[in-house]
Amino acid sequence: MFRIAPSLLSADFGNLAEAVGQVASETDWVHVDVMDAHFVPNLTIGPPVVESLRKHTGLFFDCHLMMASPGAFRQAGADGCTVHVEVGDTSELLAQARSLGLRAGLALNPETPYEAVEPFLDQADLILCMTVHPGFGGQSFMEEVVPKMARIRTELDRRGLSAELEVDGGIDEQTAPVVVRAGASVLVAGSAVFCMHRPWEAVRRIREAGMAGLSAG
Ligand code: DX5
Ligand code: ZN
Repeated sequence: MFRIAPSLLSADFGNLAEAVGQVASETDWVHVDVMDAHFVPNLTIGPPVVESLRKHTGLFFDCHLMMASPGAFRQAGADGCTVHVEVGDTSELLAQARSLGLRAGLALNPETPYEAVEPFLDQADLILCMTVHPGFGGQSFMEEVVPKMARIRTELDRRGLSAELEVDGGIDEQTAPVVVRAGASVLVAGSAVFCMHRPWEAVRRIREAGMAGLSAG
């Protein structure tokens, strides 16, 4: 129905392999935030770290590129790469990702309108709806993005497209029910997982909250 993708951005960067191990019993995706200090004012993980982590886990690496260039990440062991529509060259980047055998994702920032991704819906395997401004973990969920997310879900279904609808930013037990009701199929959660004492239990609680939201909605 939906999956949880814990974001390593809130994990201990000195102990990333252990962080991945902490959630492996609860999920098959890990979200890797790649920032190069240009598109967003932060600098995080690059291909060498992905390559090192690849040796420790078979989990699906869902790489959120807040920059261009999926190629180096494929080589490092990424399974999916998501590029931002605000970066431009969208058709080329999606085609490049797909030709490399990656699950090709397209992200849009909170203030970017639906119309910006509409032309590319059938070229992407995943649409990532940001519900915070990208760059940092631990920010508050922007509820005003929910109608846009629901609109993307409606359009994907109307066209019979099977792309995942991923949501990223401020996801926790309170907001999970809201986004699954809006049609999200992948829930990224950073601080609500890795800032908790037992990350695996946090993943479980977010999943249960989302399930309860689905049955209530
Ligand atoms: C922010 C990143 C997110 C971040 C989310 O730019 O894209 O993946 O880790 O963190 P939380 O879940 O704490 O909002
Ligand atoms: Zn992210």
